[in-house]
Amino acid sequence: MQFLDQLRALRRQRAEWRQAGLRVGLVPTMGNLHAGHLSLIRAASEAADRVVATVFVNPLQFGAGEDFAAYPRTLERDSDMLRDAGCDLLFAPADAEVYPRGRDQQTFVEVPGLSDQLCGASRPGHFRGVATVVAKLFNMVQPEVAIFGEKDFQQLLVIRRMVEDLNLPVEVVGAPIVREPDGLAMSSRNGYLSAAERALAPRLRASLITAAARLRSGANFAEVEQDAQSALVAAGFEPDYVSVRRRADLAEPEPDTQLGAGTAEDRALMILAAAQLGRARLIDNLACDLD
Ligand code: PAJ
Repeated sequence: MQFLDQLRALRRQRAEWRQAGLRVGLVPTMGNLHAGHLSLIRAASEAADRVVATVFVNPLQFGAGEDFAAYPRTLERDSDMLRDAGCDLLFAPADAEVYPRGRDQQTFVEVPGLSDQLCGASRPGHFRGVATVVAKLFNMVQPEVAIFGEKDFQQLLVIRRMVEDLNLPVEVVGAPIVREPDGLAMSSRNGYLSAAERALAPRLRASLITAAARLRSGANFAEVEQDAQSALVAAGFEPDYVSVRRRADLAEPEPDTQLGAGTAEDRALMILAAAQLGRARLIDNLACDLD
């Protein structure tokens, strides 16, 4: 596996691969890798001839008071894991390579409708930072295909929409959530949990499973959302939201949608949740079809 931190060298390798007619797959990450990230590397190997992973903790997507400084940086270990998973090139640029003008960056990518709700409502500017850095990474690596995890479902839709709206020549592929044996979605932020919090953490996923079962037995959306949040509070979480949305566009479904009734878009649902547990902000989601 090649390790590069300079854009010039990356562009040179990219040009060689293009000349050889090889398809490139990109997996953008912020490092501190786990099996969830590695599943994306495998998906990229299936979809492309060469796999590029990026490790870059993007300052632009962290708000004031968030965990940018504390975010775990484990580049050597990440590099070993990527090599073992069959990655061909790791690009881990310094901040100045990605933001040559530092804070004087003037061009940003915004996807306002999708970005202002759910995680975006409590993390203003977060998805602007994500869309901007992903657009940069697409321009640097110029992949034919890029893989994103469904764990960050709102992020996946923001990126799909950016690609569509800007006619970017990249195929965006979503990959399923990889979980710990007890159901907790793998996340770099799980490392912030104490042993007691770690034992409670799978309840976030459990609350989604309960919510899905209730939706399918005809319960009202607002009531299901409210009860799931109350259950999380009782378990010791500080929920940000539990929300029943349309999977296609994250819009709110018609409230009187029922099993087998209403439009197909309103019946293909996603239940999304975010909650603080100790120092960690955890997110998870679960698909639920009312048919
Ligand atoms: P990061 O949190 O490191 O995640 C990198 C990729 O791994 C994302 O596509 C995320 O959805 C995916 N991922 C994380 N945990 C997963 C799990 N348990 N199962 C499956 N996929 C998982 O998301 C980011 O970084 C950044 O916002 C980034 C896109 C790199 C832009 O800075």
